[in-house]
Amino acid sequence: MSMQSWTRAALVVGALLAVALPAARLEAQEPDGAALYKQHCRSCHGALGVPSQRMVTLYPKLKSLADSAYLASLSTDSIAVVTRDGMGDMKAYADKLSASEIAAVARFVKTLADTTARRP
Ligand code: HEC
Repeated sequence: MSMQSWTRAALVVGALLAVALPAARLEAQEPDGAALYKQHCRSCHGALGVPSQRMVTLYPKLKSLADSAYLASLSTDSIAVVTRDGMGDMKAYADKLSASEIAAVARFVKTLADTTARRP
């Protein structure tokens, strides 16, 4: 390759990095709570926080996280602590999720109340 095309190639790579890096950094700062919930929690708690009958049979202590009164009794911090340390049949996520991922998933769980609050 000529010197000129090397320079052009370097400019193109530089421009691509300039676009890609800030996006990657933003993602590192803000884990996607909804995606984490889907991946780690949905199987037991249900997509919208309402556990399936099968899961309730399996884990009788499973409550609906979409029940706004119940959810109001849980702080985002307490949800994070349960997620980190586990509770009863729910295992701890301390070795699976980082502190910021746990915080993000806890914030997402808090939004689940909205899904039933509007139910007539
Ligand atoms: C294997 C099934 C299972 C998975 C997966 C699971 N949980 Fe749970 N979760 C439970 C059970 C069972 C309980 C009830 C525990 C009890 O009361 O003994 C519970 C309780 C909870 C509670 C209520 C805590 C309280 O103080 O009442 C929250 C909040 C919660 N889970 C969040 C999560 C989050 C967030 C995830 C994903 C990171 C998750 N769970 C994954 C089974 C599960």
